[in-house]
Amino acid sequence: GFSQGGQGQGARILVASNRGPVSYDVQKDGTLQARRGGGGLVSGLSAIGPDTDAVWVCAALGDGDREAVRRTGGALPQEDTGDQRVRMLDIPPEVYADAYNGIANSVLWFVHHMLYQTPLEPVFDTEFRTRWAAYESYNAAFARALADEAAEGAAVLVQDYHLALVPGLLRALRPDLRIGHFSHTPWAPVDYFRLLPDDVAEQLLKGILGADRAAFLTHRWADAFTACCEEILGGTGGTRIGVHGLGADAGFLRERSHRADVEERMTALREQIGTAPDGGPRRTVVRVDRTELSKNIVRGLLAYRDLLERYPEWRGRVVHIAFAYPSRQDLAVYREYTEEVSRVAGEINGAYGTEGWTPVVLHVKDDFARSLAAYRLADVALVNPVRDGMNLVAKEIPVVSDQGCVLVLSREAGAFEELGEHSLTVNPYDVTATADALHRGLSTPDAERAERTKHLAAAATALPPDRWFLDQLRALDD
Ligand code: G6P
Repeated sequence: GFSQGGQGQGARILVASNRGPVSYDVQKDGTLQARRGGGGLVSGLSAIGPDTDAVWVCAALGDGDREAVRRTGGALPQEDTGDQRVRMLDIPPEVYADAYNGIANSVLWFVHHMLYQTPLEPVFDTEFRTRWAAYESYNAAFARALADEAAEGAAVLVQDYHLALVPGLLRALRPDLRIGHFSHTPWAPVDYFRLLPDDVAEQLLKGILGADRAAFLTHRWADAFTACCEEILGGTGGTRIGVHGLGADAGFLRERSHRADVEERMTALREQIGTAPDGGPRRTVVRVDRTELSKNIVRGLLAYRDLLERYPEWRGRVVHIAFAYPSRQDLAVYREYTEEVSRVAGEINGAYGTEGWTPVVLHVKDDFARSLAAYRLADVALVNPVRDGMNLVAKEIPVVSDQGCVLVLSREAGAFEELGEHSLTVNPYDVTATADALHRGLSTPDAERAERTKHLAAAATALPPDRWFLDQLRALDD
């Protein structure tokens, strides 16, 4: 039977994702401190505001969240959630760790972003099978909770690679529901996807095909998914395939980026940037990422070093503002990557820095107001992921930029499909070409920069989050 939804009849619209809009830390005095999560998924879904009465089902990520579930029964207080109705699931910690760290982030993320170093990885052995069983049971827990919360005929939008099995499982429990699945990542090309054990590859595809509609951020990822289905299963069955290119929320960003806390951080950043030897302002190359293997932060730093080496006119006249916020630190490979980012940044400062000039300003403590301050100050935005579902930073910077900025953009980012025409696009592995693009970007005359930025901002906001969400609901109805 259906349990009590908000109106006592179950919800008409449900969203499911691993990460919800809020996460909790336990303070020393035992109180819970709420904080907003990072990443494109949460940014996009935050648009499902008070206007719909959607219920957002998510997992407890750590001890703070588990404590919050204990205290609230899982229905989080709406003052913590940005007014959204959130039901948080407490999955047993070992199951959760195996599903989230062991499968979702170490296997599925790696496959879709093509991150394996194949002579050594992946290895699919007994340990993998244990984790896979945990992934199945974590997906089953979501399917049960959704089945329990949904009203007759409700629409359920399942998000991302963590929950690939949910559509199929939910369909079996509740054939009356309309189910959509949305992937926020790239989809692997078929030859790479087939690194996975055959039965696992099939299960993942069939899981998503349990939905009425499977949607992606770009045509490229949708086509890759279709190709996998055709090659491995012989087709996509009755499931419709869609594309919704999530855009930036201009209204929110412009308002938020002019508040006092952002202005304060701009002052502090300007001080760190300093002035050029001739007294003029220094130019900035800005990047803001989770410290994520796919974001290619280290090659970005190497390109910046190459810029200083081969275009010595920029020495003392440019600063690289690099914000690399900790992510998935339970995984050793992420911790090592984080260290490598700091090491290379330090090396560049050691080799080129002078008394009054720090070539790289690296910040690793997550601070949204400071990110917006850097966005506003950017002359060149560097977005060079090796692969990325979309990359919202590429869309956000042009929207809030004060004096216009040039976007140096990887052709492997989903955002390339919409922004490529107005960017300096690079092969993310080509450090030399990236350095050349940085030079071109820094040398672009003000008028051209402003013109480019206007086009970028228009393309970046073509499908704002609220419409992105509503379009998916509408498409599910058709
Ligand atoms: C990407 C994924 C999201 C995820 C985000 C942050 O954007 O598509 O599903 O939430 O990264 O990663 P995390 O593991 O911290 O949730």
